[in-house]
Amino acid sequence: MAQPAQPVARDLTPAFGAEITGFEPRKPLDAETCNVLRDVFDRRGLLLFRGLDIDHAYQVYLATMLIRKAHLADTATIADTFYISNERPNSAAPFGRLQFHSDTMWSDNPFEVLSLYAVNVDEPVVPTTYVSATYAWATLPDDLRARVDGHEALHTAGEVRRGDLTDVDLTTVERPPSTTMPIGRRHPRTGDTILYICEQMTKEVVGMAPDDSERLLGKLFAHLYDRSKQWSHHWCNGDLIIWDNAAVQHARPNVRNDGPARTLRKVAFPIPQLSRDQLPAYESAE
Ligand SMILES: [Fe+2]
Repeated sequence: MAQPAQPVARDLTPAFGAEITGFEPRKPLDAETCNVLRDVFDRRGLLLFRGLDIDHAYQVYLATMLIRKAHLADTATIADTFYISNERPNSAAPFGRLQFHSDTMWSDNPFEVLSLYAVNVDEPVVPTTYVSATYAWATLPDDLRARVDGHEALHTAGEVRRGDLTDVDLTTVERPPSTTMPIGRRHPRTGDTILYICEQMTKEVVGMAPDDSERLLGKLFAHLYDRSKQWSHHWCNGDLIIWDNAAVQHARPNVRNDGPARTLRKVAFPIPQLSRDQLPAYESAE
């Protein structure tokens, strides 16, 4: 029997990301296809597929396969209840602008993989914007690298307020979880070093005076979020993006409650175990 054709990857930017074409959503995928996709995922940090018709279980399968943990993904524990939507009741981040972040950066075991699938978007809708923290570390100027060497940063949920907060979707958390990690963090799967800070959740450089900490973080953010290094995706129905949540950060411009429908199904893995008072509540910055 003829072997199925292998998918083809095309770089989205010089720094990160790849669009995959020629992909057939079978289950299980053959070993060669898995290897091709995993290799591109590890090297590029983000995969874009267009025009897919997939259910929640398949989204879980593909996302966890890419981090070599499909055997741990029980769809019963990753319920089909997680949507980013301005129209669907009880969705996350229903409105507002989101500053750059890695989801659950405040956790000791943050999401390793994150994905969004466009279920219902009334095109055109607000895009999602990405940057590569791996590329940011690789291109970090020597003087900045020397200043962060050996330092850790404190990350917390729902407490950090910095920069322009216009339209920002502020979250509040009753008992915010937090963690410290090296600023030059070794990626647990790829071994790459990543610039592991984000404007939304990084509170301070541990052990540094507040002014010095904020000044240093400001320089690191300017490098990490350089506009020329950003890539934005304008969603169409059937688009699927799967990204490495540590290596790649995401953000979005303002989404309005009364704007065009924008419903994205979210799958993340692994899920941190949190009590109700550690979960975010959404409020407007206005
Ligand atoms: Fe997010």
